[in-house]
Amino acid sequence: MIVVAITGASGVIYGVRLLEILKELGEETALVITPPAKIILEYELGITEDDLKQYSTVYYSSDDLTASINSGSFRYSSMVIVPSTMKTISAIANGYASNAITRAADVVLKERRKLVIVPRETPIRSIHLENMLKISNEGGIILPAMPAFYHKPENIDEMVNFIVGKILDMLEIDNHLFRRWHDENP
Ligand SMILES: Cc1cc2nc3c(=O)[nH]c(=O)nc-3n(C[C@H](O)[C@H](O)[C@H](O)COP(=O)(O)O)c2cc1C
Repeated sequence: MIVVAITGASGVIYGVRLLEILKELGEETALVITPPAKIILEYELGITEDDLKQYSTVYYSSDDLTASINSGSFRYSSMVIVPSTMKTISAIANGYASNAITRAADVVLKERRKLVIVPRETPIRSIHLENMLKISNEGGIILPAMPAFYHKPENIDEMVNFIVGKILDMLEIDNHLFRRWHDENP
């Protein structure tokens, strides 16, 4: 089981694509979406949380602190927050576990499981960097939404797939979502 959290940053398409791919790959997912993310899903992609629920195995409301993912006794392997706001990163860095996402991230870090965070903000200020450093020092993986261009993307989908492929790489899930350096086959 992989927890996928979508927070209220631009670039919710990354989270949606990750969910679609994980379902295609037969992976079980628990989905959590914050209220600001719901607004951005509607604004950037014209979709609702209901449209997304079909891609996940279970869905939790972000204010549901009784969700199973909020307990260290519930065994799940990893969590991806994509995209992640600076607010959510700040809460995680400082142990402020006030919703189902920040609490689950707390659990993942304290249980020494895998946490992948995809921040989306630019430019960033010192406090953002300090918060990301705190999480990185605890073993969390900070994977900025910074598409590369060496694979010569021809459209937005290919740029999105690059980031989603890198997330899958971090989760050690085989994928061919982007053409790797010196790889002729996409
Ligand atoms: C259209 C829109 C785009 C936003 N984009 C970002 C962003 O890219 N990064 C960010 O840190 N905050 C962004 N915000 C602000 C967050 O949504 C806001 O800080 C919110 O409180 C985050 O709550 P959450 O982390 O619980 O989702 C955006 C807000 C709106 C309305």
